[in-house]
Amino acid sequence: MQGYRTIIEPFRIKSVEPLRLSSREEREERLAAAGLNLFRLHSDDVLIDLLTDSGTGAMSAEQWAALQRGDESYAGSPSYFRFERAVRELFDFRHVIPTHQGRAAEKILFSVVGGPGKVVPSNTLFDTTRANVEASGATGVDLLYPAGRKPSERHPFKGNLDVAALERVVGEVGASKVPLVLVTVTNNSGGGQPVSLENLKAVSALCERHHIPLFLDGCRFAENAWFIREREPGQHQRTVADIVREMASLADGMTMSAKKDGLANIGGWLALDDDGWAERCRNLLILTEGFPTYGGLAGRDLDAIAVGLREVVQHDYLRYRTRSVEYLGQALEQRGVPIVVPVGGHAVYLDAAAMLPHLPPLSFPGQALAVELYREGGVRSCEIGSVMFGRQPDGSERPAAMELVRLAVPRRTYTQSHIDFVVEVVEHVAARARSLKGLRIVEQPAALRHFTARFEALG
Ligand code: F0G
Repeated sequence: MQGYRTIIEPFRIKSVEPLRLSSREEREERLAAAGLNLFRLHSDDVLIDLLTDSGTGAMSAEQWAALQRGDESYAGSPSYFRFERAVRELFDFRHVIPTHQGRAAEKILFSVVGGPGKVVPSNTLFDTTRANVEASGATGVDLLYPAGRKPSERHPFKGNLDVAALERVVGEVGASKVPLVLVTVTNNSGGGQPVSLENLKAVSALCERHHIPLFLDGCRFAENAWFIREREPGQHQRTVADIVREMASLADGMTMSAKKDGLANIGGWLALDDDGWAERCRNLLILTEGFPTYGGLAGRDLDAIAVGLREVVQHDYLRYRTRSVEYLGQALEQRGVPIVVPVGGHAVYLDAAAMLPHLPPLSFPGQALAVELYREGGVRSCEIGSVMFGRQPDGSERPAAMELVRLAVPRRTYTQSHIDFVVEVVEHVAARARSLKGLRIVEQPAALRHFTARFEALG
C-alpha cells in the first residue's frame, strides 16, 4: 500500500494453535531435566519458539489444498513432475533429485564428491553441511569476507565469500583436490547475511578458470535474492524470480532444504548438471532415501513444495518477511542490545560475547544467554557459537569465530505482539546479563554436540 509506513502481514489467519503459558518454577524444572540444552525441551513447554525457522512455518491455504492433489505412486508420480517443474522454473539444473531434507542431499553429494584429501571451500558451511563434508573424510574451509566476522560492522553483503582467500586456497591445495565450492545463501551461521550477485559472479568466474564446479546451499535463496534487489546497485527493477534464475545460472548445482524457502514443513533436493555425478547420487538416493521420483518424501510433500516455491518469490511476502525480522532487530538495537547488523533474512542474532563480556568463549556465553531467555520468558533460541562449532574433529576445543544467539523467526507464524513480547524478555535479560554464570559440558557426543549435550552451571 503506497503512502503507508506499516508493512502488514499479507495474509489473515484461518487456523490457530494454542500456546501454553508456564510458570518460572516449571521452566526451572524443565531446564534441569533437559540438562540446560534447549533442544531437549518438549516444545509444548516453550511459549515462543525461535529455535529455528526450519520446517516451522505456516503453510498457505493453497499449499494445504495441494496436499489433497498429492499422488502417492511409488514411481513417476505427477506430484514429482509438478515439483520438478517448480524447482526448474527457478533453478534450471538438468537433474532434480528430491530428498527428505537438506542434510540428506548433503550426505549424498559429499559421499559422491568428497573423501580423504579433498577440500571444500565455502563462505561458511552450515553445521550439518560441515559434518557431512567431514564424515566423507574431506575438510571444509570457511572463507568468509572479513566484514562477515564482525557483528557490529555494517555491510550490505556480509555473507560474501573472500575471493582472494579462495584463490589462495585453490593455489595451495590444487584444483584437483577441490571437488566443488559451496556458497551458502543466505549465510545462516554468519548471521543470515546475504551474498551479492557481484560476489557470486566473481566466485563463479574463479571456479570456471580452475574447472571447479560451483554449488549453492540454497536454503534461503529467496531472502538472499530480495536483499540483492534491495541493496545491490542496478537490481531494483528486477523480479526476485529473475534474480534467483541468474544466481542459479552462475552455479552447477545446489543442495536445498525446502523447510526454509520452500515454505514446507519437510523436504529438500539436490540439483545438478553433471550426468555422471547425478547417476551416482541417484544410486545412493535409492539406498537411503527412496526411488528418484519421491526421494524420502510423500507425494503430497512434493506438491506443497511446488506451491511454496511460487509463493516464496512474491514480493509482498518477502517485503513483509524481511521487515518483520528487521522490526525485531531494530527494537532490540533501540534498547541497546548488541546484535549482528545489518539484520539478516530469517533471524536476529544476539552478540553474546558483547552482552556477557565477563565469560570466556569456552564457558559458553551464548548457551548461558539462550538458557536465561527461556528461564525468563519461555522463549527458545539457539546458540551459534563455541557449543556448536568449538569442538574440533580431533576432539580439541577452539573458540568459535563469534558467540551468537539466534532468534530465528518461523515464516508466517508469529504476530507482531508475539515479537513485542520477545523484545521485552530480551530486554529484561540484557539488564542483568553481566551477572549470568558460564556453563560447562558434562556429557556430549563426538559430533554435532549442540543437539544432545548436557550442561551444568559453573559455580
Ligand atoms: N544448510 C543451511 C544453510 C541450513 O540452515 C540448514 C538447516 C541445512 C543446510 C540443513 O537442512 O535441516 O533440512 O537438513 N538449518 C536449520 C536451522 C536446521 O535451524 O538453521 P535440513
